[in-house]
Amino acid sequence: GVVFDCGVRQNKPPDDPLAALLDRVRVRLRDLTDGEPASYIPELSRADPDLFGLSLCALDGQVYSCGDCDVPFTVQSVSKPFVFALALADRGLEDVLARVGAEPSGEGFSSIRLEPGTGRPPNPMVNAGAIVTSSLVAGASAEERFTRILAGLSAFAGRDLTVDGAVFASERSTGDRNRALAYLMHNAGSLTGDVEEQLATYFRQCSVLVTCDDLAVMHATLAGGGTNPLTGERVVAPRNAQHVLAVMATCGMYDASGQWMLRVGLPAKSGVSGGIGVALPGQFGIGVFSPPLDEKGNSVRAIAACHLLSEQFGLHLM
Ligand code: DON
Repeated sequence: GVVFDCGVRQNKPPDDPLAALLDRVRVRLRDLTDGEPASYIPELSRADPDLFGLSLCALDGQVYSCGDCDVPFTVQSVSKPFVFALALADRGLEDVLARVGAEPSGEGFSSIRLEPGTGRPPNPMVNAGAIVTSSLVAGASAEERFTRILAGLSAFAGRDLTVDGAVFASERSTGDRNRALAYLMHNAGSLTGDVEEQLATYFRQCSVLVTCDDLAVMHATLAGGGTNPLTGERVVAPRNAQHVLAVMATCGMYDASGQWMLRVGLPAKSGVSGGIGVALPGQFGIGVFSPPLDEKGNSVRAIAACHLLSEQFGLHLM
């Protein structure tokens, strides 16, 4: 089993060469000071721009990390592939695809484009699609659905996660674009149920606190076919994990997904807190955290770190 003390993972080998190697990447990119922390949610704009952590979780359950790998931040859009996985597990692929597409939007994360006719959002990685997938997770009420989502994210991370109440309140009070998207989808029939309740579930999901280490473990769970390498728990079926990785590969970095696949060549997901999670199927998961973002809403240092790691170690899948 895994032992935790104050949120710090205890299963790290001390002075490991792999952790030292990650640290070299971190030190090399520490002085890259481009970008700004997200400002559209007041709570996020207060993030320390110097924070920078790098973690890798291998499928044998070892976690190698350096820098600010234990600092909590809200998971934001990095939750989207995991909640998509839960929706797939609960509903099956065809039912989920009836409500949300699997095509890259070519637009930013808050793209307002819905499929003509069906009103389906383009994919589960943009906000509109994620609002739909969190409404598709099993549960008779919004409360039950969120309980399932929090338990599911925790199972992916291998420890009990909690919600940052201040960020949740901040998201909910400033989330008019998401609100508008949700009402458009409700009108088109792709989002059903009580719109405000579905939105609250989505905002709460984005406000779940994780660390860089958690991102590595969560992505290692996807890389390992849905089984958490730390706890041994089968969180979703291999087929579900495979489908999630496929959609991450084409849509995970929003309108930077093509460039990302070209240069890094691995399925990944970014979030506006500055986290990026990456999976190398059958091998490991990587978590990177650094709050300053580029104009597409992806972490500048995290992208640079992934470019370096992919190039130096030949991780590109193609
Ligand atoms: O929907 C939102 O506005 C945020 N709570 C999550 C968006 C997000 O992380 C987009 N990613 N880069």
